[in-house]
Amino acid sequence: MKWLIPVFLIIILSCSKKETGIVTNDSTQYSERYRPQYHFSPDKNWTNDPNGLVYYEGEYHIFYQYNPYGNTWGHMSWGHAVSKDLLHWEQLPVAIAEYQNPSGDSTMIFSGTVVVDKNNSSGFCEGKDCLIAVYTSHVHKDGQGKLQHQSLAYSNDKGRTWKRYDKNPVLDIQRKDFRDPKIFWYETGNVWIAAMVVPDLFKVVFYKSTNLKEWTALGEFGGIGDTSKIWECPDLFELPVEGEPGKTKWILSLSGSHPAGGKFVGMQYFVGVFNGNTFIPDQSTQAPLYMDFGKDFYAGIIYNNIPKEDGRTIMIGWANNWAYGNQIPTSTWRSAMALPRELSLKKTAAGLRLIQQPLKTISSLRGDEMKGEISGNQLELEVEIDIAKSKGAGIKILKSESEETIIGYDATTQEVFIDRTHSGDVGFHKEFASIDRVKIDASTGKIKLQVFVDHSIVEVFVNNGEQTLCEQVFPLANDARVIPYSENNDGVISVRAWKINRTWK
Ligand code: FRU
Repeated sequence: MKWLIPVFLIIILSCSKKETGIVTNDSTQYSERYRPQYHFSPDKNWTNDPNGLVYYEGEYHIFYQYNPYGNTWGHMSWGHAVSKDLLHWEQLPVAIAEYQNPSGDSTMIFSGTVVVDKNNSSGFCEGKDCLIAVYTSHVHKDGQGKLQHQSLAYSNDKGRTWKRYDKNPVLDIQRKDFRDPKIFWYETGNVWIAAMVVPDLFKVVFYKSTNLKEWTALGEFGGIGDTSKIWECPDLFELPVEGEPGKTKWILSLSGSHPAGGKFVGMQYFVGVFNGNTFIPDQSTQAPLYMDFGKDFYAGIIYNNIPKEDGRTIMIGWANNWAYGNQIPTSTWRSAMALPRELSLKKTAAGLRLIQQPLKTISSLRGDEMKGEISGNQLELEVEIDIAKSKGAGIKILKSESEETIIGYDATTQEVFIDRTHSGDVGFHKEFASIDRVKIDASTGKIKLQVFVDHSIVEVFVNNGEQTLCEQVFPLANDARVIPYSENNDGVISVRAWKINRTWK
């Protein structure tokens, strides 16, 4: 990974073990400047990727890459919270912590999955089933990565306590970079399947197992799509094709970033088939398909074990970016998750495309619809623009005398964009002040934008989730007006607005 591990690791590890006691949500703590009020963030400290998203016995678990000792990347462990509705979260103690090895090096707990072992295939379950975490064990010495292999931990008390398997690692190919296992039960083959990445070779490699402990290599996929940055955090899942009952397709999604920043890639996906051995994309030569066109959507994975009758496929991504993530001007926490997104697959003229929509139940957080002048930093907005007549139109949000974030449609390029160049504090990193764009289908003559503003996170869902943009902003001013604008004053824009209620107790 990317960041230096402080040399005083050993001292800290031995002094601070007790810091991981039960933490309750405390309203003063969740009211810091820039703290999202309806997006998930841990109570304090640094977080990155969501890990082990799993629904189990009425609870949605979120584990996440977490530094228990500070608000920059380091000491990676799995933080933990649970929710009954994916909106209100209860903070729990660290689930799986970094540990020291007798040889003097340490092992961090990198990204991975949690599965429900329904038939006790692992032999770890005390009751009828249990939770098994499959994570990357990242061995390092004084911050220098030595080896990445895959390991297990298990829980027999609904994720409250975890034991690491005493025969870890379970999969070791003696490689420095080999990580981020996604595990799922593959019904057709009656086996567990693992998809993980060899990041620097732009490869997703597949393995199978009957007991989660012994793994056999299957096929590989890679070398196509966007290979300009290392590959991380794969996911592989099946989605019904909208409008074609009984038909499904597989999606392979990935994240790509680079330690030195530079051109940002974010997440990409492929549509195709998983045949029990490897993933075969429908189109191997097409231009890459990206998931989100903002700067801040990364490492997204989907929930395991959502009941079939529920039918939703829900993804949570990290609302930050490795280029500047460690420098964003927040304290005592640093980084939050994007809103949970419901995924579906739609036939378009260009082929099958992912549709991403905010969790439907987010509307339960709406206050009364706002009338007259709109302002606020905790809002949902529905914006409609008649683009047939417009040279360019949109809204300015978080607007004060000197600051604004612009979400608009540019008729010359047929793009929706977010301009955060004057959004407030942009000086903490040279790559932060940006205008980010996505081409849209302008043929209908109208665009609909569903916009979520949550203090330092702005998420835009274009045309019912055909495109999305997730971005962070750090306004310095207190004024936060919402002002529609239209280049040629043709009044073709309508805005509805709701305050969104805070989800912390
Ligand atoms: C992605 C990532 C993963 C890794 C984790 C470490 O953001 O680099 O590949 O497991 O973060 O924190």
